[in-house]
Amino acid sequence: MDQNKEFQERIKKAEQTAHRAAYVTFFAALLLLLTIYYPQLGLGETKPEVIAEVVEDEDRIENGIHLRTGLKDGEGLMTVVNNCTNCHSAKLVTQNRMTAERWNTTIKWMQETQSLWELGEDQKIIVDYLVKNYPPQKKGRRLALTNIEWYELED
Ligand code: HEC
Repeated sequence: MDQNKEFQERIKKAEQTAHRAAYVTFFAALLLLLTIYYPQLGLGETKPEVIAEVVEDEDRIENGIHLRTGLKDGEGLMTVVNNCTNCHSAKLVTQNRMTAERWNTTIKWMQETQSLWELGEDQKIIVDYLVKNYPPQKKGRRLALTNIEWYELED
């Protein structure tokens, strides 16, 4: 009789342990699923809002200047950024002020000697942007001097 009772006690304990294990497993699984399907709860380690910020910064424009490259904002800006800042800095582009004709020649030269790819319809967009935002400077020479006090040469 005593033995039987002890046996029953053991069964009961085993049952309790099994229940506890089931609960723990259930909540662990629930937590895992929540982490997977609702990452915004912050149960996992990722912080999505930080990632979004970095992507946004990449092409930020402030005071009319594309910060990453220093190029002026304007129609065709991103076409220029995507095609003309891969091999050299945008500075090399903007310090050269050319007419449309000379830009087309320069682009052709890069295609023939520097393995620049075919630009297709983007070429016109790029050249238009460059001529409009970085026009050729007209004053090739300094202006004539004025208001100068000359002095007499002595013999
Ligand atoms: C595949 C690479 C590559 C791409 C893309 C590229 N370039 Fe170049 N570019 C070069 C190389 C290489 C040089 C020579 C650099 C040097 O002399 O140090 C050069 C030189 C230049 C120069 C100076 C030319 C000179 O006479 O000194 C200008 C201006 C220029 N690139 C404008 C552009 C523009 C505008 C674009 C976009 C359409 C562009 N580049 C895209 C490779 C490239």
